[in-house]
Amino acid sequence: MANKQKIVVFTGAGMSAESGISTFRDSNGLWENYKIEEVATPSAWNNNPDLVTDFYNARRKNVIDSSPNKAHCALAALEDQFDISIVTQNIDDLHERAGSTSVLHLHGNIRYAKSSGPEQEAAYYKINGAKLSADSRCPKGYRLRPHVVWFGEEVPELENAAQIISEADILIVIGTSLQVYPAANLIHYTKKNSIKYIIDPKVNTMTIPIGFTGINSSAVAGVDLVIADIKKSAKSK
Ligand code: APR
Repeated sequence: MANKQKIVVFTGAGMSAESGISTFRDSNGLWENYKIEEVATPSAWNNNPDLVTDFYNARRKNVIDSSPNKAHCALAALEDQFDISIVTQNIDDLHERAGSTSVLHLHGNIRYAKSSGPEQEAAYYKINGAKLSADSRCPKGYRLRPHVVWFGEEVPELENAAQIISEADILIVIGTSLQVYPAANLIHYTKKNSIKYIIDPKVNTMTIPIGFTGINSSAVAGVDLVIADIKKSAKSK
């Protein structure tokens, strides 16, 4: 893919909103209906593993019952013409199910579980749509927890994500409020002369990072606009 332009797409919960998966900070978002400290922190897991397990079982079912939307599919189709990588904050697998083959999950993947033993022994287990319970144990007997990066935990894939974004000729940020760090910092790792877009229906009320073209639109409509723009400038090269 030596002569192909490198596109990197950095997605958040808004990418999956049109697939019926709720975002976190919109009205009626996940964090309006659940307290983060009760379901998405290591102490929540230690204090009430059953509540945390039930919370992620419900989210896993929602993902399994959802389908990729047209924006997921349009990004996957770009692989024919461009060298494209996805870095997602989402724990759903809709990018993969749409056909994207290079997807890095910054905050984990709901289709996997991991041992809640010591970090060095933490192995990952593909559970797909299975429900976890108190009896779900790894071979060493530790309880299985969702493979999700909780608030206050390290982000193991951060360096890989920064490297991928630093190689982008074109960066497309879709459906993220850019309120959670260190993920939000990743948009500053781009090359100086890279072309940058941000797609969000709240773009007009967001502080758009310098150098980004803001597309005030949903993911489905916005991705079509950006792809048309990219293909037009690729033709004129
Ligand atoms: N298309 C595109 N963007 C949308 C759509 C849509 N149809 N609907 C909503 N959005 C936008 C919202 O305007 C908002 O800017 O998606 C963004 C969602 O922001 P958040 O809910 O904060 O989600 P995200 O940025 O992914 O959160 C980051 O926070 O809770 C943690 O680990 C969790 O990965 C998550 C991280």
